[in-house]
Amino acid sequence: MDRSARPWQPSLLFARVELKARLLLPRIRSSAAQQAERLRQQADPRAERLAQALESIAADRVLGQPREALKRIEAARHDLLRSAELVPWAEESTQSLAWICARASQPPSGARLLHHVVSAWQPRQAIELGTCVGISAAYQAAAIQGTGAVTSLEVYPALARYAERTWERAGIDNARVVVGRFADTLGPTLASAEWDYAFIDGNHQGPATERYVAQVARAAAPGALVALDDIDYNDGMRAAWQSVRRRPDVAANAVIGKIGLLALR
Ligand SMILES: C[S@@+](CC[C@H](N)C(=O)[O-])C[C@H]1O[C@@H](n2cnc3c(N)ncnc32)[C@H](O)[C@@H]1O
Repeated sequence: MDRSARPWQPSLLFARVELKARLLLPRIRSSAAQQAERLRQQADPRAERLAQALESIAADRVLGQPREALKRIEAARHDLLRSAELVPWAEESTQSLAWICARASQPPSGARLLHHVVSAWQPRQAIELGTCVGISAAYQAAAIQGTGAVTSLEVYPALARYAERTWERAGIDNARVVVGRFADTLGPTLASAEWDYAFIDGNHQGPATERYVAQVARAAAPGALVALDDIDYNDGMRAAWQSVRRRPDVAANAVIGKIGLLALR
């Protein structure tokens, strides 16, 4: 259905998604603080590092240059949410950019959690599965501007182009997109660098997610962090989370809202 005829709908959808995410924030922050305490008791350096990332979520502070970058990202999102341009999307043949941005991108509160995690972890090479219009990649890249870079994978070329525009508009110069299906792009991309952070946010099917985690874990640098979005999305994703968090190469794990975190050995 062409939702460009009803441009107010994506904004309403976005407002609902963000309101829900914002209402959950106090609980997520206090759970992050509790999990940090639990991880400290493990007396393991990887668990300690994860505890520090969780503490930065509990503190929820963004200062200096990244703060300005996050404002510019939200200005770019504001424009996307008003775009009636039609682009290819999933099972539907086309969909308005505004609708895709409202439905699939991390809302500001969720994206800010990722920003805190990446800010605390400080990876040099971050990989993201699922670019969409570039919002979460921008939040993560803003946390490592000048020290690291984000490579994001996306199947739709049109979305990849919009992601590049989002980054340009937000002054993010350390993100790039690789176009193609994960099945074709993940292997070669993983082989091209030493990855110390991954965010898996596309194709939310349990077996596929387990495969992506295994592939990333095999290729990643020791002590890398893997974040998975939507671990509560469906039965398959719930089962996948229970399985991956018990992998022998996982030293510590935590959950922030609907995002699972795995600190690898
Ligand atoms: C939930 S959206 C990503 C949202 C983005 N991370 C953000 O928060 O701004 C998932 C994206 O993954 C892409 N995707 C899904 N399955 C894919 C696959 N098998 N290969 C490549 N891209 C895929 C979709 O086209 C979509 O843009």
